[in-house]
This record gives sequence, C-alpha cells and structure tokens, in this order.
Amino acid sequence: MINIALPKGRLGEKVYSLLANVGYKCSAYDSSSRKLIFRDEQNGVSYFWVKPTDVAVYVERGAADVGVVGKDIIEDVSPDVYELADLNMGKCAMCVAAKSDWYDDTSRPLRVATKFVNVAKKYYAELGRDIEVIKLNGSIELAPILDMSDVIVDIVETGTTLKENNLKVFARIFDISARLVANKAAYKFKNDEILQLADKLSAEVER
Ligand code: PRP
Repeated sequence: MINIALPKGRLGEKVYSLLANVGYKCSAYDSSSRKLIFRDEQNGVSYFWVKPTDVAVYVERGAADVGVVGKDIIEDVSPDVYELADLNMGKCAMCVAAKSDWYDDTSRPLRVATKFVNVAKKYYAELGRDIEVIKLNGSIELAPILDMSDVIVDIVETGTTLKENNLKVFARIFDISARLVANKAAYKFKNDEILQLADKLSAEVER
C-alpha cells in the first residue's frame, strides 16, 4: 500500500488524474465528496486530501509516504523530506511587490507583509537589509495599499491581483512549481514502489 497526500483543490485533482492514468486509480475516488481518505486495496493505493500548506507535514511525519507540495512551501518550511520530481505544474513565482511609486528608504527597517516569513527573512538577510516582518494569512496585497507595510513577499501567478490593486513586482525571488516529495523512512522501505511512482508520474507530466 502506498499512501499519497494530495493538495485539496484543482492542482490535487489534476495530479490525481495523472496518477490514475499511470496505474494508481482509486475506485473509491470521488472529487465531489467531503471524504478525506480514498483507498483502493486492490490497486494498493490510499489518497488523503490535505490542505496544500499541510502536505509536507503529513509526509514528514510519515502519515503519507509521498505527497505533492509547492516549492514555495518547501522553501519556507524546509521539511525533512526528499524532493523526487518537479511536476511542472502549479507554476508561479515568489516575488517582492509594492505600490508602483515605492522606493526603499534605507534609513529604517523595511516593513514586509507576507505569509512566507522564512522566505522573506532569508531573502533580505542575504541582501543585508533590516526588515520587520508582518505575518499575514491571506489578501497580502492589502498591506501596502493601507500603508501597513512597504512591500509584500508573495506568490504571483497571472499578475492579475497585483494589477487590480495597483501594485508592481520589484524582484523575482524564485520560480515555483509543484514537487513530488517522499517521507525519508518510506523512501528506504518502499523504495521500489516510490521510485516507480515518481518515474511514471514524471513521464506522464512530460508527455
Ligand atoms: C495567491 C497570492 C496572490 C494571488 C496571485 O493568493 O497570495 O494573492 O494568488 O495570483 P495572480 O497573480 O494570478 O493574481 P490566494 O488566491 O492563494 O489567496 P490568499 O489571498 O488567501 O493568499
């Protein structure tokens, strides 16, 4: 049995379709149901629907053998897992954005609003810039508009949210895509199964 944590939502559903295509179909699967676990004993697979930001926790703790998680979360949380494959989907970028007329007043710490506290700290530490982090959980774009922060460190996908709020990208920190990750112990004890799944999924993604 291989236990797979999928991020609840569109990305998770897409990944499930790919896995189903390459032999990991789950007869109990039903995307419209509120159930969180789907098992298929015959096919040897069990799927868990997990909040995207929690996938790495389930995999790190071994509740799931493998999972699909964004590079944004991997960079921010640094989970103790193996990163096996880039699935080339869920593509976006971690950026610094601010009001278009913003300029950096280096005489005081920069106020940075973000969900990604560790990413922001690391980025500005490397630049040698003092910051004050303002941790938010969503609608990050509001912070500079209300002058609660100078900049934001956030995900930009299409750029629509920034545009509609008159904000602009000032720096691109790194590219993001969905990654297949594995629990370290499971990788050792279910090595063949996990590698096979990673290979089949990567091949299907590239097709
Ligand atoms: C994310 C991100 C941006 C938006 C970027 O927010 O934090 O706000 O998507 O997408 P875009 O460039 O295509 O406009 P999410 O939808 O996860 O909601 P949130 O505000 O709750 O973080």
